[in-house]
Amino acid sequence: MTSSPPIFCAIDTSDLDQAQSLSRKISGTGCGIKLGLEFFNRFGPSGVEKIKKKIGDSKLFLDLKYHDIPNTVAGAIKAVSTLGVDYLNVHAAGGLEMMQEAKAVCPPQTKLLAVTVLTSLEDEHLRAVGQSTPAGDQVERLARLTQTAGLDGVVCSAHEIKRLRAACGDDFVLMVPGIRPAGADKGDQKRVMTPSEAFEAGATHLVIGRPITGAPDPETAARDILKALR
Ligand code: C5P
Repeated sequence: MTSSPPIFCAIDTSDLDQAQSLSRKISGTGCGIKLGLEFFNRFGPSGVEKIKKKIGDSKLFLDLKYHDIPNTVAGAIKAVSTLGVDYLNVHAAGGLEMMQEAKAVCPPQTKLLAVTVLTSLEDEHLRAVGQSTPAGDQVERLARLTQTAGLDGVVCSAHEIKRLRAACGDDFVLMVPGIRPAGADKGDQKRVMTPSEAFEAGATHLVIGRPITGAPDPETAARDILKALR
């Protein structure tokens, strides 16, 4: 599937063989694949290339959440760009200039997203790092800054979809983790939504990991989730 997939499956494992096998099977259903820090820090660019070989022309999101000074982030984006992934991300809290410099060196075929406020942080945690704005307001502020910097969208929680869709318009990408099919185990996710609810609220793509990768038959689990969306 080369067109934009509704779902990216998070492959969070430190077993390279398992990651390759899961990626091949799940990409065959029409899902994209998301690789994150755990995978990249263990297997590096060559690991990403191995996964790319398994998924053919399915979409790949490399979720590395860069956060550093503008020159360093731009250098990291340039270095990782040789892998030809479809989505990359940075932290919006790195500021306007950092995001602009990252976007300037990001290849046009790679969409660049920003993380606003980590969903593990609540108002009290933000206050402890000197951030007195409530989390929801800070998320919107950083999403608007992301849009001003010319990035393609943000990664956001399901409960922020409506607010950000209203603030940033229809073309802004909202990539949404914390999704659980009805009746699925929540794991460590606290505030979850079903896939249909998230799309109804205005999500562009969903990130779903364990409900697919932890199922007895991941391929069937992915197909069932996609089928329920039609
Ligand atoms: O297994 P599960 O569906 O909870 O996986 C969600 C994926 O999305 C994980 O890779 C997790 O790191 C990522 N993620 C998240 N919440 C965020 C940002 C990313 O769960 N706010």
